[in-house]
Amino acid sequence: MKKDILKVLLTKEQIQKRVKELARQISRDYQGKDLTLVATLKGSVIFLSDLIRFMNHPCAIDFIAASSYRGQVTSSGVVRLVMDLRESPVGKNLLIVEDIIDTGYTMDYLLKNLSTRQPKSLKVCTLLDKPAARKVFIPIDYRGFTIPNEFVVGYGMDYLEKYRNLPYIGVLNPEIYRERK
Ligand code: PRP
Repeated sequence: MKKDILKVLLTKEQIQKRVKELARQISRDYQGKDLTLVATLKGSVIFLSDLIRFMNHPCAIDFIAASSYRGQVTSSGVVRLVMDLRESPVGKNLLIVEDIIDTGYTMDYLLKNLSTRQPKSLKVCTLLDKPAARKVFIPIDYRGFTIPNEFVVGYGMDYLEKYRNLPYIGVLNPEIYRERK
């Protein structure tokens, strides 16, 4: 029987330690300022829920969802907004909370979209950065881990809606997506 997860890239403990560090850094940087965390659905929900519980700073949360038309595992670059913020971003310090920046197309779209809506500031926090897959430059303000160019799942990230509930981040066995070709 094939193993779905080829290897564990980041354990639950490694993730928790790093998320705690990011939360402390963000809390320090925004001391005395309002802060709205804008989480990108669906992948970043687990990261967001851990991040806010480690934060020592009052913050609002909101959600946005953008989707790119994909091949098996990589983005086509055509991104569309599928769910907008519930609150107005005007005059707010927004911090986008993303699970992974891969090609960068999704974040590029979100940055362009949100920056036209008069936030006071706009920054980017990503748990994972996969620079080898990047197609467009993305300024990253807070980065959890830099990872190799492999397809990862777990801790919110999926393949066809599976594996989001894994407590660790693992590399998906390529046989899983090759099967569907
Ligand atoms: C994933 C991830 C990022 C995006 C990164 O979302 O959560 O938003 O892909 O890829 P990119 O840098 O190549 O644009 P996905 O579209 O799979 O949706 P999901 O979060 O609902 O799983």
